[in-house]
Amino acid sequence: MSFYESHIFPPVMEWATRGFRRQIADLIGQAEGRVLEIGAGTGANLGFYQSSVREIVGIEPVETMLEKARGVARSTGHGVPISLTTGDARALPFADADFDTVVACLVFCTIPEPEKAAQEAFRVLKPGGRLVFFEHVVSPHGTTRAWQNRLNPLWRKMACGCEINRDTRALFEAAGFRYESIDDFIHPKVPALVAPVIAGVAFKP
Ligand SMILES: C[S@@+](CC[C@H](N)C(=O)[O-])C[C@H]1O[C@@H](n2cnc3c(N)ncnc32)[C@H](O)[C@@H]1O
Repeated sequence: MSFYESHIFPPVMEWATRGFRRQIADLIGQAEGRVLEIGAGTGANLGFYQSSVREIVGIEPVETMLEKARGVARSTGHGVPISLTTGDARALPFADADFDTVVACLVFCTIPEPEKAAQEAFRVLKPGGRLVFFEHVVSPHGTTRAWQNRLNPLWRKMACGCEINRDTRALFEAAGFRYESIDDFIHPKVPALVAPVIAGVAFKP
């Protein structure tokens, strides 16, 4: 892992995604029971969990991000036990039907082979368990979509694997999820290339 990926990109990512946090906080209030947060990053969401959650398990492949997330975990104050480990969402080190909720925020844009991660999220959820998600996605509008496709190779390099043109809605459906609620909107406070967002709750039938 390069110095850019481990030390420069994480604070840039935190700064660049701050416009999304209020909605993410509202959404994460829907998590309950034993929760797995995939790609927990620097722990930006760990303080948002509510008393409906019994335990939070976070996985994240970048060790420098995990170190920061551990500091955040110690200072959350909500009292829910949090464990954070190195891991890859494409091969989760958990048994089938181990979690009530999987949380995925701004992560399916970055995971290589995201279809594998969606299948893994589905596998580790109990039947009836829920995927709480907030993801920037491919634009429904032709002009923005064309720019997303054009700039994606450059963006991917600068943003450590993040892709701006993924159809994550279809990806979740293909993995077997059904939507309980899905908000599909253009975020007003972030650059146009990452403004198309899907946010909501999907469940494992
Ligand atoms: C844009 S950041 C979002 C981090 C965090 N979810 C948040 O809301 O701030 C994308 C995250 O996905 C993580 N990631 C990349 N590949 C992954 C993988 N294969 N499995 C799990 N997480 C991954 C990155 O390390 C990074 O922390």
